[in-house]
Amino acid sequence: MVTAIDRETRAWAVLEHRAEWVDALRKVPILAGLETGQLNRIAGEVEKRKAGAGAVLAHQGRREREFIVILDGTARVERDGKVLAHLRAGDFCGELALIDGGPRSATVVAESPSVLLVMKRGTFVRLLDSAPDLRKKILVTLCQRLRDADATLAALN
Ligand code: CMP
Repeated sequence: MVTAIDRETRAWAVLEHRAEWVDALRKVPILAGLETGQLNRIAGEVEKRKAGAGAVLAHQGRREREFIVILDGTARVERDGKVLAHLRAGDFCGELALIDGGPRSATVVAESPSVLLVMKRGTFVRLLDSAPDLRKKILVTLCQRLRDADATLAALN
């Protein structure tokens, strides 16, 4: 039989777990500027996922709709089999297909056992709408990636 005290204990456990999760999310650079209320909501919507070395996190050309933050581990970004970039803890990927609605621009492969924070499109879009700091961080990263791509192209000519 489940008593009221059991229920209360369980409710506290859930709350404590949620508080730990919120503290962990606060340490993720892209989420660092969010308010506690926003972090609380995200904590209830995102998924923490493990990936082994070699696991494919995003498939070039596919219409996948997840935004991924690497909490631990490393990954490489490849297009047509050529390595474009390396990602590490705190970096994110998967924003392009969510922002423009197109297919994945590249394949992302875990290079070591990794822990990921995975966000569905709805949560990501709501955050973009409601969190200017996060929006700016994503824009700055996109600009850096464009500059890197330009530098690579220039070096080829
Ligand atoms: P998306 O196109 O949704 O899926 C593949 C992801 O790889 C892409 O979003 C970006 O997050 C990431 N990506 C693509 N090109 C680069 C790049 N040149 N440097 C770093 N990351 C990239």
